[in-house]
Amino acid sequence: MWPGIIKAYPEFYHYENERHIVTLLEGNTPLIPAPRLAEKINPKISLYLKYEGLNPTGSFKDRGMTMAVSRAVEAGSGAVICASTGNTSASAAAYAARAGIRAFVVIPEGKIALGKLAQAMIHGAKVVKVLGNFDEALKVVRQVSDDYPVTLVNSINPYRLEGQRSAAFEICDGLGEAPDFHALPVGNAGNITAYWAGYKAYRDAGKIGSLPKMIGFQAEGAAPIVRGYPIEQPETVATAIRIGNPASWKKAEAARDESGGLIDMVSDAEILEAYRMVSAVEGVFCEPASAASIAGVIKKNKEGLFLGGERIVCTLTGHGLKDPDNAINVSTQPESCDPAVTCEPVMRKVLDVLGL
Ligand code: F0G
Repeated sequence: MWPGIIKAYPEFYHYENERHIVTLLEGNTPLIPAPRLAEKINPKISLYLKYEGLNPTGSFKDRGMTMAVSRAVEAGSGAVICASTGNTSASAAAYAARAGIRAFVVIPEGKIALGKLAQAMIHGAKVVKVLGNFDEALKVVRQVSDDYPVTLVNSINPYRLEGQRSAAFEICDGLGEAPDFHALPVGNAGNITAYWAGYKAYRDAGKIGSLPKMIGFQAEGAAPIVRGYPIEQPETVATAIRIGNPASWKKAEAARDESGGLIDMVSDAEILEAYRMVSAVEGVFCEPASAASIAGVIKKNKEGLFLGGERIVCTLTGHGLKDPDNAINVSTQPESCDPAVTCEPVMRKVLDVLGL
């Protein structure tokens, strides 16, 4: 049985006492080949989707949270706190529940997807909404965790990034080597940092011979790294990455530069198009922020970045079910009819769509 990332990678994760491990058996997510999507983008590339939506709380955050909460428990902490655009709070709430400790989550009012809020609430976290954005929420929780005995579990907690490296290990295990390019959305910039550290650790352990180029994508309205200055009022439909001053800004730049990669931005329209496309063409449902990775690959392909023959992995960071509102908004709306009266409207629709 898959034991969760800490026990699955004993070479990379040390623990003193097994009893302190808090796990929901996160990790081991599928690396799904996406040939139909590749066919649409560029038939000469091989595309894979690292579907992180299949983690226990529906996002990649669980990989970091198992580490951060385990270490908090080991240190005798009775509570964790985080700021979040939604997924971190869902994960922190679940892992705190699992550990039997308290969770406090601070979220930007009105700007988190419904499923994520539901998760934090049902797991019993104390949820505080701030009339501000993620960056302001992060300032608040940093201060509180400095002054009070609560453990900060945002990605500035180093254990978070250590845990998130495991996705890179799994990709290399799956492919037998590192991909040529690794595309992912960039928000607070922890994940791109963690993946890069993961690939380097795997190379240093002799498990892979080469490293990928890291290609990160921000949303146009929340692209501080691309523009080179913090964004006071970040705005994007991809609320998960609605961040104007990323905590791991410098580390993400280092990942970009050391790997020979890039960090660029994509528009909300491009994100939503990629979001709809991967769902419709591959049957893989992710949240809008996740689709920034695919939107980025589409953009870079048009610019001629890929010559053919490359293996490209896109991380799909969160499950589409977290954000039903956006899915419904970008889709064709259902038609109503009364089958008790006649089935003809339904039949006509079938004939119409199938061109019969
Ligand atoms: N994709 C999703 C679905 C996310 O939830 C996040 C970040 C990212 C991408 C960006 O990752 O911050 O490591 O660059 N969500 C955080 C949260 C900020 O609070 O849940 P990053």
